[in-house]
Amino acid sequence: MAKPIDSRVIGIFSAKGGVGKTTSTLLLGMALSKIGKDVLVVDGNISSPNIANWLGISPDKHFHGAVNNEYPILEAVFPHETGLLVIPGSSGINYLTTLDLFSIEPIIQRLKDYSEIILIDTPPGRGEEVAAIARGVDEAIIIVNPEEISIDNGLMIKELLKKLNRKILGVIVVENKKYPRKIDKKKIAEKIGERIIGYIPFNKDILKAAMNANPVMLSKPKKIWNAYLEVAARILGPTELERMLREDKKNPYLRYIKKNLGLK
Ligand SMILES: Nc1ncnc2c1ncn2[C@@H]1O[C@H](COP(=O)(O)OP(=O)(O)OP(=O)(O)O)[C@@H](O)[C@H]1O
Ligand SMILES: [Mg+2]
Repeated sequence: MAKPIDSRVIGIFSAKGGVGKTTSTLLLGMALSKIGKDVLVVDGNISSPNIANWLGISPDKHFHGAVNNEYPILEAVFPHETGLLVIPGSSGINYLTTLDLFSIEPIIQRLKDYSEIILIDTPPGRGEEVAAIARGVDEAIIIVNPEEISIDNGLMIKELLKKLNRKILGVIVVENKKYPRKIDKKKIAEKIGERIIGYIPFNKDILKAAMNANPVMLSKPKKIWNAYLEVAARILGPTELERMLREDKKNPYLRYIKKNLGLK
């Protein structure tokens, strides 16, 4: 297959667990896909992969097997009904001790030949697994919650990403629960020293979808969906969105973004 122009490998990171990385990877992926991008989502959460559960799929091939050299990575691609191409992970306990973390970087980079945008969900923390994925991505998004400890953790992961010379696209703030004393966007941007590319409000249906291991929050509450469409628009930028709209004038999502959210 010819190499698509401008393939982008984007990792979704946080030093703290449970902040909203997987949710954001999937919903951002769906938003980019509806806008018209070719999106491949990879479950790079080596020790606790859960994208297969969230999407309600039972794949026989996965990221772990490919990293372990059992088959070529493209054999693990699962075309999901949401429009996403997905490489799920395996929860098999044996992989935890046998995976060669140094194979991850070249495998991820190879996916560029396959898709325009590759979104990689990652494990929490700043350990070797996270660094191994970080070495394989070109760009990174940091996820934080609007509270002090999560922002401190945002700074920690930024430090690692900078050390590895990764380009940071910005921060998505996720209200994954009710925060009685939320820290506002401006303050978060100042503290982390990066731009805020999205603010995802709290939504109880999203919480429920994960608790029930539902095929991913398919209901897409409007405020949440709008917030992820906005992040998608910011990541692509106005020039690319205008170009896409010229080529695909009827795309309802692009038209919605232009009319309701703006293209800036
Ligand atoms: N906007 C939201 N409103 C309410 N709950 C949310 C929202 N976004 C995420 N959550 C919930 O927060 C929890 C953690 O989300 P998620 O699993 O995406 O985090 P994570 O960073 O991937 O976690 P881990 O580090 O364990 O992989 C889930 O229960 C999820 O449903
Ligand atoms: Mg996760």
